[in-house]
Amino acid sequence: MKKWNVAAIRAAKGKTKLGCATAYDAAFARIEDEAGVPIILVGDSIGNNVLGFETTIPVRMEDTLGAVSAVARGAKNALVVADMPFGSYQCGEDKAMENAVACLKAGADAVKLEGASPRVCALISRMVEAGIPVLAHVGMMPQRVNEYGGFKKQGKTDESARQILEDAKAVEAAGAFAVTLECIPADLAKRITEALSVVTIGVGAGPDTDAQWLVMHDLLGLNEKSPPFAKRFAELGAAAKDAFSRYVADVAASAYP
Ligand code: KIV
Repeated sequence: MKKWNVAAIRAAKGKTKLGCATAYDAAFARIEDEAGVPIILVGDSIGNNVLGFETTIPVRMEDTLGAVSAVARGAKNALVVADMPFGSYQCGEDKAMENAVACLKAGADAVKLEGASPRVCALISRMVEAGIPVLAHVGMMPQRVNEYGGFKKQGKTDESARQILEDAKAVEAAGAFAVTLECIPADLAKRITEALSVVTIGVGAGPDTDAQWLVMHDLLGLNEKSPPFAKRFAELGAAAKDAFSRYVADVAASAYP
């Protein structure tokens, strides 16, 4: 297997559909990598899936950098993308550049940012110009949960759908090599995928994007509940609970060791 790079991801458009996933540590990054996952995202979803928060908002740069370096040590071939946490790129361009550079120095191959405002697009262009590949994110943006009042599907009205299409075009023009489309109607995701020349990666956006994301904890059934669109390919949470209870019982019964 060859190491995935940005050029190979770009070249996959229209040829191979890519199943991409999150990881937050070296052990699962190695497993995903050996299974052929092409892009591993160290998502700011580390906040709600690993650190026990309700949202991604409390995630700090230190959390991201620790996880990125662990994932980069575990993954040999996947493209490792660092999801820049809330506050790390809304804090002024120079500081945002510094934080993106820190992600690459920790082992990421690219960074991901939410949004498509003129300020975010200018930042994407500056990063790309500096040699930092950027994966953009439009549609439902979890870092805006306080504005939405929950993790709500976006793009349901004509006006909102038009805005998301414009956002996707804007981040492509700014130089993003791929665009995440989160929680938008499937027909809108299809239209955006057809309108862009870069790869779209959907999550809760139907089957017609160039690639898909799944949060590792949903894919493996590690959380009690998953979003309705997320297929659970295993039930590792139940298997782990069973193993821990048998262990506790065996120790109590002097059956182990
Ligand atoms: O943080 C994350 O896991 C994400 C994906 C859902 C795209 O942003």
